Parts: sequence; structure tokens; C-alpha cells
Amino acid sequence: MTSHPPTNLAILGSTGSIGRQAIDVVREHPERWRIVGLAAGSDATTLAEQVAETGAEHSGLGADHAVHLATLPGIDLVLNGIVGAAGLRASAAALGAGKTLALANKESLVAGGRICLDAARRGGGTIIPVDSEHAAIAQCLEGRDFSSVERIVLTASGGPFRTRRFLDDVTPDEALAHPTWSMGPKISVDSATLMNKGLEVIEAHYLFGLDYDHIDVVVHPQSLVHGVVVFVDGSMLLQAAPTDMRIPIQAALAHPDRLPFSVERIGLEKVGSLGFEPVDDGRFPCVGLAYEAGRKGGSFPAVLNAANEEAVNAFLLGFISFPRIPTVIESVLEAHSGTDTDDLDVMLDIDAWARSQARRIMRRHTSTRRRSTGIVRDDNRGPILRLPGGAGRRRET
Ligand SMILES: NC(=O)c1ccc[n+]([C@@H]2O[C@H](COP(=O)([O-])OP(=O)(O)OC[C@H]3O[C@@H](n4cnc5c(N)ncnc54)[C@H](OP(=O)(O)O)[C@@H]3O)[C@@H](O)[C@H]2O)c1
Repeated sequence: MTSHPPTNLAILGSTGSIGRQAIDVVREHPERWRIVGLAAGSDATTLAEQVAETGAEHSGLGADHAVHLATLPGIDLVLNGIVGAAGLRASAAALGAGKTLALANKESLVAGGRICLDAARRGGGTIIPVDSEHAAIAQCLEGRDFSSVERIVLTASGGPFRTRRFLDDVTPDEALAHPTWSMGPKISVDSATLMNKGLEVIEAHYLFGLDYDHIDVVVHPQSLVHGVVVFVDGSMLLQAAPTDMRIPIQAALAHPDRLPFSVERIGLEKVGSLGFEPVDDGRFPCVGLAYEAGRKGGSFPAVLNAANEEAVNAFLLGFISFPRIPTVIESVLEAHSGTDTDDLDVMLDIDAWARSQARRIMRRHTSTRRRSTGIVRDDNRGPILRLPGGAGRRRET
């Protein structure tokens, strides 16, 4: 390990799950990083506490402030832990300004993969993946000749509903209770629908330059193995680690060094057997939708992502049922004719179009169902279908 002065670090999305864990990592190794900048969305109280603790000289709220931090001359390393396409501008800005970007915000690459790669080429920035699956693949690939790679495999826990038969009455609380990871609300729902894996397939396409036929997904309920590289001779390298996001966050921030971390070690004798199974595309159509959007390319992945963000939000607010999430996304994709652009503003306009289209579809469906079934809204927790016995049951709209 090389010894060097602390690296100046900016954490975007510092108040979220990734951001807080990144601050934990810095707390463990204060000699390695100096937190110079912090950016969050709206949680001013937590941000102020973080500024008081870390002594960050630059801090603020909103995507514009994140972009400002991402390009500040004194900052070398930017961790993007913003949720959603709101993080795209900051990722492109950091890469365009020649920074090392530790990227948790997968939506940056889904909504603007070519835009980010282009910014990196022009500005000299580099991306180090934080997502555990991509961090795993990157570690398996380190120092190897890329022509020896046949395919990669991303593992998925399967989410909380892997073995649940009926998904119609899934509640937001159930969707938020992930079996193996503790994460922010949006990615937790994405993990429950398996859209998270779909987004990661597109992220992997841009990170590793592989076409979609060479990126596989397998369900691995223990979440112990995070990624697999299959080589041309049939051998495979698997990366395994405890389910603690501070491990890939630290690995990305310290890259290429590996620092000590005091997490409980995996006792393989206690693990027993490891399970791997295919994705059930019938119950979890989001993975297939993501492959389709990825293969079509252009603006389709950005539309998939924006429609998903809107549908997940509506589900969390109780406006649509869990199974409606993929159908809303599919309808928005069907309404999109596709644009081939590397222009950030054009892509953000398409993102905005997809969001309004998703909201329109969800509103239209809600009012139709309300007329035909007599659904009435309760407070702000979502619609209730009045059943003959008088009991209210939360239902899809
Ligand atoms: N959590 C994980 O374990 C995990 C694992 C792998 C990948 N990821 C990826 O990491 C990203 C963050 O996930 P998360 O779970 O940490 O989400 P989260 O807990 O919801 O946190 C999101 C962060 O983004 C900030 N934010 C939201 N909108 C913003 C905006 N317009 N401008 C600036 N900041 C904004 C939030 O600020 P406020 O708190 O002020 O709203 C918060 O700090 C996602 O892309 C996710 O897919 C997460």
C-alpha cells in the first residue's frame, strides 16, 4: 500500500444510506481522506451535523450544488451517492473535470451512459464502481486481458418477494424490508421488483463495454457472491464479501489499495450451501424490460429509468399497486419512439417527458378504475376498494 497525503473528497448525497456509510468509512481511516465537500437534497439538519463533524468547507442542498462540488478544483475524488437521474449532471460534470468518480448513482449510467463516458474521454475522469456487483466484477477483472473474458454474471438477492406467490397486495412497508441489504427507499423497491438488477445490467454494459448478450443475471439469495466473471476457458472468478456496503465504498475510495475493515468475517463452514437460480421473468418483468431498453439503446434506458422512478414513487405513496410498476414502465417505453443523442440537456428533456408520460398513464388508469369500481380515496395512503362486507382492502388502482 502506498502512503500519501489525504485525498480531498466530496460526498454527494451525504445524508442518504450510501453517503452516511461513506462518512463511516472516512471515520475509520481519517488519514486517507479529507472531506472537503458535502451535498444533499433537502435534509438540511443532517447536512449541518455532518458539516460540524467533518469540517467540510463546502456544503449545500440541491443538484446544482452537487454539480458545483463535482467540479471544484481542490477536490480529487467525488463519491456520487445521489439517488435517481438527479445525479446525472454531477457525474458528467465530475468526469468532465477530470475527477475520479466513485459511482453509486447507477442511474447516471442508465440515463446517460454515453454522456458520462464521453465526458470522461474529454475531461480525463475515471469511474470506480461502488455498486457491490460492479465492484466485484471490477476486482475479478483487475490485471487481466479483457479478451479472455467470455461473460459476466451479476447476482441478485431476489428481494423480499422471491418466494411470495401473489404480489397484488404487497405494501410499501413490505417492499422496503429487504432481506439482506439495508438501503434507501428507492433502491429497496427496485430490489423488490428486480428493476435494480435491470438497471445494473445497463450500468455494467457501459462500465465494462460488454454487449447485453454477455451480461447475465442470476438470483443468489444469500447475497454472498456479488459478481462472477466467466473466462473463455470456462473457468470462473467469483467475488464474495459480507453484505456491508462499506466494503465496496471503501474499496472504491481507496482504489487501488485495500484497507483493513473490521466487519465480521464470513465463516464458510457456517454458510453451508450457496443457492443460485434463474430470474422468474413472469413474476419480475423489470429485468426483461431493462434488457430490452438497453438493447434498443439511445434514449430508451433513460426513459425506462425515469418511468421507473415515477412508478416507484407512486407506489410508495400508495397510488399504484406493486404489479403496476412494470406495466407503467412498459406503457411509457411503448409510447417512446427513441432518440439517439449524446446531449445532456436533450436527454434530460426526454427524462422529463417520460416522467410526465408516466404520471399521465397512472392518473388515467386511476380515474378509469375509480369510475368503474367505485374506488374511493382515503387520506393520502392510497385508494381503498370498498368490499361488499364493508371492510376496506387496499387495492391497485
Ligand atoms: N443504499 C445502498 O446500499 C446502495 C447500494 C448500491 C447502490 N446504491 C445506489 O446509490 C444511490 C443512493 O442510494 P441510497 O440508498 O443511498 O439513497 P437514499 O438513502 O435515498 O439517499 C439519497 C441521497 O441523495 C440525495 N438527493 C436526492 N435528491 C437529490 C438532489 N436532487 N440533489 C442532491 N442530492 C439529492 C438525498 O438527500 P436528502 O436526504 O437531503 O433527501 C440523499 O442524500 C442510488 O443510485 C442507489 O441505486 C445504493
